[in-house]
Amino acid sequence: MEIKAIPSSVWKFLWHYLSAQRVLFFSIILTIVLGEFLMRISLYFAAQIVEAISGEGDMEIRLSMAVWSAVWASTVLLLRSLVQNATVFVEARFMPNCIVRVSKDLFSYVHQHSTAFFAEEMAGNISGKVKTIIDSIYPVFYNLLWGFFSPLVAMTMTFFFIFKINICLSLLLLSLNLLLIFVIYRLSKTMVPVSEKRAKTMSEANGILVDSITNAAIVKNFSRYHFEKRYYFKYMRIAADADRAETKKFGTVFIWQNLLRAFLQVLFYLLPVWYWYIGKINVADFVLIQSLIAILNNTFSMLSMNFMQFFKLYGSLRDGLVLLSKPCDVIDRAGALKPENIAGNITFEAVKYHYKNANALFDDFNLEIKAGEKVGLVGHSGSGKSTLVRVLSRYYDIQGGKISVDGTDITQIKQESLRSHIALIPQEPGLFNRTIMENIRYGRIDASDEEVYEAARRAHIHDFINKLPKGYETKVGERGVMLSGGERQRIAIARAILKNAPVLILDEATSALDSESEKYIQDSLKELMQGKTVIAIAHRLSTLKEMDRIIVLDKGKIVESGTHRSLLAKKGIYYGFYEMQSSGFME
Ligand SMILES: Nc1ncnc2c1ncn2[C@@H]1O[C@H](COP(=O)(O)OP(=O)(O)O)[C@@H](O)[C@H]1O
Ligand SMILES: [Mg+2]
Repeated sequence: MEIKAIPSSVWKFLWHYLSAQRVLFFSIILTIVLGEFLMRISLYFAAQIVEAISGEGDMEIRLSMAVWSAVWASTVLLLRSLVQNATVFVEARFMPNCIVRVSKDLFSYVHQHSTAFFAEEMAGNISGKVKTIIDSIYPVFYNLLWGFFSPLVAMTMTFFFIFKINICLSLLLLSLNLLLIFVIYRLSKTMVPVSEKRAKTMSEANGILVDSITNAAIVKNFSRYHFEKRYYFKYMRIAADADRAETKKFGTVFIWQNLLRAFLQVLFYLLPVWYWYIGKINVADFVLIQSLIAILNNTFSMLSMNFMQFFKLYGSLRDGLVLLSKPCDVIDRAGALKPENIAGNITFEAVKYHYKNANALFDDFNLEIKAGEKVGLVGHSGSGKSTLVRVLSRYYDIQGGKISVDGTDITQIKQESLRSHIALIPQEPGLFNRTIMENIRYGRIDASDEEVYEAARRAHIHDFINKLPKGYETKVGERGVMLSGGERQRIAIARAILKNAPVLILDEATSALDSESEKYIQDSLKELMQGKTVIAIAHRLSTLKEMDRIIVLDKGKIVESGTHRSLLAKKGIYYGFYEMQSSGFME
């Protein structure tokens, strides 16, 4: 089941994944409570040993009482370690489950976002935030359980144990502890802006590092190593300053916390002494109270660290969720259609479109393409050719009018289904950093090896691949950087040949090819176009000669349309382009 939305609030987000595994979660809670309880019961028996040996009366009876207390104390301790083991086992089921669920949900939700989302946000930023959230899940639950819940249980139990001995003392201790927690909370909170600044400057410095390494070729090209070094170090120094400020602040908070705890510790030592002195408690009670307070103190010693850790995790979770929980802007309607086959009739009716924060690109755009028709699209750079085919593939939703395929509004068709009927070869085809085999087979996952070879042959890339040392098993590098533009392009064409969709869109698909390889694949493209509806955006007009119709686009409007011949005869804009190319100004 695809996730419909990601909760944008941290608490809702955490609760969503907790409640998915309620039983496991409450088992953890239960084992923590039980563990803390058993711990204190064993302290009770330990105190009984002291009582037995320090008391008066028959030695034999006292000895037997001491021995039995010791036996009970250690039995209970053993039980407690079993309970602790149980906690570990339950956690070992709970945590990985959580991480798997969160990763799956984020992965599928991120992929549901529109192309615009990916255009606006850098891929590195998106994946960074997904990773931060996944990495935060474990520590945040751990922190909540052991940093907050466990001390809370410890405090409550200490209160009840001491309450049984002396009500006044227990109430006093409880209120002082609550006060301590509150002060530590307030102190820790002053760390938040300092920590945020450190995180921000660190991530900025990291951004500079990544940008610089990504563009290592340019750095070399301009001999700018020293410039880059200074540039990066400047940011690194700012980050280091922020880091220093954070450590200093942390030191101050830590000292204050320890001073307060030390002060309370003195009180907690002296008060029981006073109560013993006035005869309100006996030796066993005294020992029990002292040991209860000692282990509680131990639990509290990390409290400020826990608070700070939590604020930090909370901050990065919130930061990630703000971006990732954004609603998707291109969505499937409920009950969207999934047409099995389409003929390929395409109509644009009164289409209005503008990119976010940009002027109108299409305003009342109309075009009808019949099934099987081959249309060439020509126009200056920036005239909207690529945008036209992107809105047809529903990478973006138009703001007005209607685009239909075989008479059905494309917003009524499931995006996945719509795009399965369209093969789009963009100008810069992306390849995965996987083998060539896997990249071509992406067009049709169940294609046999032989079918992949055939597609590669038709794209005139088979021989090239075979000459590589690893042949089809060659990995192509990130985005295909280990191949030349033309090789990449031909692999993308082979991939589209394999997809064999009824609508074929070529967005300057041959522009990266030299004239030689272009001549080769012209034939395969011609074959690929057979019986398909084709929209071919071309930079080199010679490739469009045999189109049924050529449309000249300018600023989102059709300014000329006709066959190659008729447009030449007309001596208009197309003729101008053509003249310029054949006289050699444009390649
Ligand atoms: N993702 C985008 N966001 C904002 N504006 C864009 C985006 N893509 C293209 N544009 C702008 O839209 C106009 C048309 O672009 P495009 O369709 O790519 O032109 P063509 O393919 O004809 O060269 C250009 O002015 C371009 O700057
Ligand atoms: Mg373009």
